[in-house]
Amino acid sequence: MTDLFVDLRSDTVTRPTAGMRAAMAAAEVGDDVYGEDPSVNALEAEVAALFGHEAALFAPSGSMANQIALQLSVSPGDELLCDADAHVVTYEIGAAAAYGGISSRTWPAVGADIDPEVVAGMIRPDGYFAVPTRAIAVEQTHNRGGGGVIPLATLRDLRGVADEAGVALHCDGARIWHAHVADGVPLIEYGRLFDTMSVCLSKGLGAPVGSLVVGSADKIERARMIRKRMGGGMRQAGILAAAGRYALAQHIDRLADDHAKAARLAEAVAPFGVLATTVRTNLVALDLTKHTLDARALAAAARAEGVLISVLGPRTARLVTHLGLSDADIDRAVAALPRIFAAA
Ligand SMILES: Cc1ncc(COP(=O)(O)O)c(C=O)c1O
Repeated sequence: MTDLFVDLRSDTVTRPTAGMRAAMAAAEVGDDVYGEDPSVNALEAEVAALFGHEAALFAPSGSMANQIALQLSVSPGDELLCDADAHVVTYEIGAAAAYGGISSRTWPAVGADIDPEVVAGMIRPDGYFAVPTRAIAVEQTHNRGGGGVIPLATLRDLRGVADEAGVALHCDGARIWHAHVADGVPLIEYGRLFDTMSVCLSKGLGAPVGSLVVGSADKIERARMIRKRMGGGMRQAGILAAAGRYALAQHIDRLADDHAKAARLAEAVAPFGVLATTVRTNLVALDLTKHTLDARALAAAARAEGVLISVLGPRTARLVTHLGLSDADIDRAVAALPRIFAAA
């Protein structure tokens, strides 16, 4: 990504392309808190239509979009179910509890390999003696689960579980575009399974900022209030929305290229027994429990070779591909990483 380093830390390190910058410069704007930004309004309508929902709301970040959506379905003191590695309970700094008063309970971290029966067994009914479950959240693709894709059949079963219990189903779809490209499931097919979704324009799609909450018209009207309360009302945000519209038009199909690059990285490190999961999308999760190198040592050695990677835990690391990487960048990483593992 930078001239000096091959940056595999995250797909959020991308910088807007020339075409995206041109679209941003040309954007029509207005005051979005007054609902008068034509570019934001167009983006919201486009994203709602992509997922077959009535409405969508532009938010400054994926975390805010998730937290707005959770507050729509779970009242203070009530319960959210999700997996122990979910972004909403791992990386959002306790926001569900701090802002929504939400009680979260988790099923063991299994990435995308969810067993709907386990989830069904955890749901607690309304009543005087227990915390009532109000929503189930899943993550598509799964970040800490190595970019795993939850199969459509599992999501359909979870929809059935949610319907039977009368609880909401939320999708943290920060990388739902990657699932769509990997499994060929139409976005609208995903959309019809969820009550609310959050989707990101700045992970993989290459926009500098922005996520959307997707849902019914009445939910999104309430979401607008919650966003304002959380300080997320933006003014001439059309400049950012234009980047997002450009990303949706230009950068979804090309994700297949990022997936192919991730597969090359996976193939290069596989002989060292460090792949945590099968690589399906643009994330490569490394499990270093059986290797002499720990995550920090690996990151330091990779950096010395000009390759940046993420340390997610003492023996967990992650490589991520994105539109800022060339084939030559991947060649460099594919040469360096096996050398480092072999020398340790
Ligand atoms: C799965 C997932 N959800 C949500 C987010 C939050 O996005 P943001 O960093 O824009 O708050 C991320 C960020 O990487 C993510 O990976």
